[in-house]
Amino acid sequence: MAVRGLKEKQATKDKRLWRSSSERGDISRNMLLSFLALCCGGAAVLYGLYSWLIPAAVQYNAWWALLWHDAIVERALNTLTRSTRPQRLLRAVQKKAIKGDPQSVISTIDYFCRHSEWAMNVGDEKGVILDSVVCEVSPSTALELGTYCGYSTVRIARLLPPGTKLITLEFNPDYAAVARQIIEYSGLQDKICLVEGASGDLIPKMQELFGIKTFDFVFLDHWKDRYLPDIKLLEECQLLRKGSILLADNVICPGTPDYLEYVRNSPRYESKYFKSHLEYTKVEDGLEKSVFLG
Ligand SMILES: C[S@@+](CC[C@H](N)C(=O)[O-])C[C@H]1O[C@@H](n2cnc3c(N)ncnc32)[C@H](O)[C@@H]1O
Repeated sequence: MAVRGLKEKQATKDKRLWRSSSERGDISRNMLLSFLALCCGGAAVLYGLYSWLIPAAVQYNAWWALLWHDAIVERALNTLTRSTRPQRLLRAVQKKAIKGDPQSVISTIDYFCRHSEWAMNVGDEKGVILDSVVCEVSPSTALELGTYCGYSTVRIARLLPPGTKLITLEFNPDYAAVARQIIEYSGLQDKICLVEGASGDLIPKMQELFGIKTFDFVFLDHWKDRYLPDIKLLEECQLLRKGSILLADNVICPGTPDYLEYVRNSPRYESKYFKSHLEYTKVEDGLEKSVFLG
C-alpha cells in the first residue's frame, strides 16, 4: 500500500513537472513568435518609410529632398553596397538599356532615378526644355559645364547636327570614368569630347585645345557658385558671340542668385526663365536661357 502511495505521489509530481516544463515551452514559443512578428512588422514599417513614405514626404521640400537623397540614402547605400551612386547607375544602364540607343540610355537612367535612387541629372522634366533649346539653336559648337554621369551629355549630343562635337567638362575623375562608359554605351562617343578638369582652368584653353573661336550653345550645370565666374571667363576669353545661347540648370534649387541677378540685369544679355521642377521631385526649379547680345 505504502509503495503504491509513493508511486502515485511520484507520478503526480512527474505530471506537474511535465506540465510546468511544457507550459514553459509554450511561453518561450509564444515569446519567439511575438519577437518574430515584431521584427517582421518593424521591417515592414521601415521598408514602407524608406521606399514610400519618406520619399513622398520629401518630394515637396528642397532642403529635405536633398538631405534625404544626397546625404542619407546615398551614404547608406554606398556603405551597404560598397559602390558609389554613379557606379550603381552605370550598372542599371548596362543591365537594362539597349546598347547604341541613346534614348534607351536616357529612359533607363530616368527610370532608375525615379524608382531606385535619385541622382543629380537634369532629369526628364527639365530635359524636355533642354531638348527644345538644343533643337532651336542647332549649334555647331557646344559646351557643357558639369558632366556627372553623362546623362545630359547624351541628351544634348543625340540632338546635335552632324559634324558638331559637344565638349563636356568634369573635374571629378570617378564621375568622368562612369560618364565615359555611359557615353560609349549610348554609341555617341564620336559626338562627345569629355575633358577631365576644372572649368576655370579649361575655359581659357578652349581655343588652344580645340581650335574653338566661339560657342553657339553653353549648358551650365556644374557647382552653382561657378556659374557667374565662368560666364565672365567665357566673355573675357571671347568665347561668346552675338546670339550665343547660355542655358543654366538649377537656377532656383539649389539656386544661383548672383548668376540670375547678372544675366537678368546686364545689358549684354536677354534672359528668360523656364519654370519646372528639381529633377525627379515636385520642388520648384527651372532653367534660365540667356542670349548673349554682344
Ligand atoms: C549637377 S552635376 C551635372 C549633371 C549633368 N549635367 C546631368 O544633367 O546629367 C554637376 C557636376 O559638375 C561637376 N563640377 C562641379 N564644378 C565643376 C567645375 N568647376 N569644373 C568641372 N566640373 C565641375 C561635379 O563634379 C558634378 O559632377
